[in-house]
Amino acid sequence: MASTPETKAPESESFEEAPGFANTIASVISPVNILLSAIISFLLFKIYCKFVKSSTDTVVLELPKLRKDMTVAELRHYDGNQPDGRVLVAVNGWIFDVTRGRRFYGPGGPYAAFGGKDASRGLATFSVTSSDKEYDDLSDLNSMEMESVKEWEAQFREKYDLVGRLLKPGEEPTTYSDEETEDTDSPASTPADKKRE
Ligand code: HEM
Repeated sequence: MASTPETKAPESESFEEAPGFANTIASVISPVNILLSAIISFLLFKIYCKFVKSSTDTVVLELPKLRKDMTVAELRHYDGNQPDGRVLVAVNGWIFDVTRGRRFYGPGGPYAAFGGKDASRGLATFSVTSSDKEYDDLSDLNSMEMESVKEWEAQFREKYDLVGRLLKPGEEPTTYSDEETEDTDSPASTPADKKRE
């Protein structure tokens, strides 16, 4: 008949403890903490990206812009092995400064075979090879392959700086003034144009 408060007490204690624990958990995963964690993660990610970017782009920022038409032989010097590390690649009769992509085209990169070379044929045939021919007029490529060359050219124009034209044997280089902007609208009969004619 007598009540037994001693036996009830532990029950009520454990009942009260649960919300306390839940509160602690709730306070740890509160929206504020989640937001702070997200901000910290984002900042750490930005720092990481900056670090990766600066380690690959340093050379690019230091190099003066190059504007010059070149022969295949001249182009060969720009394979990334010279002291300034500049890398040039020709696509469809145009030379691009791909130094910012030197992790692809520079020494040891997966597409190093294209560095300092005319990559048109390799890109058209999906093969990471280049020839040491004097000038490749691509005349034996079929229309699909030429279409692919033009698509690659468009991608390079978007991503990289134009340096100049790849000169055919006997062709004279254009003299570019310092102020001259990239004349990318008037390609002087590239191999792809020749194929269309
Ligand atoms: C299994 C085969 C291949 C894989 C898995 C592969 C993978 C890739 C990846 C992931 C990228 C983008 C890299 C980035 O933007 O960070 C890339 C870019 C590229 N790939 Fe490949 N690739 C393959 C074969 C080839 C072949 C055969 C060619 C030659 C025609 C080629 C030429 C290129 C070029 C020119 C780029 C653009 C690099 C730039 O942005 O300047 N790839 N490849």
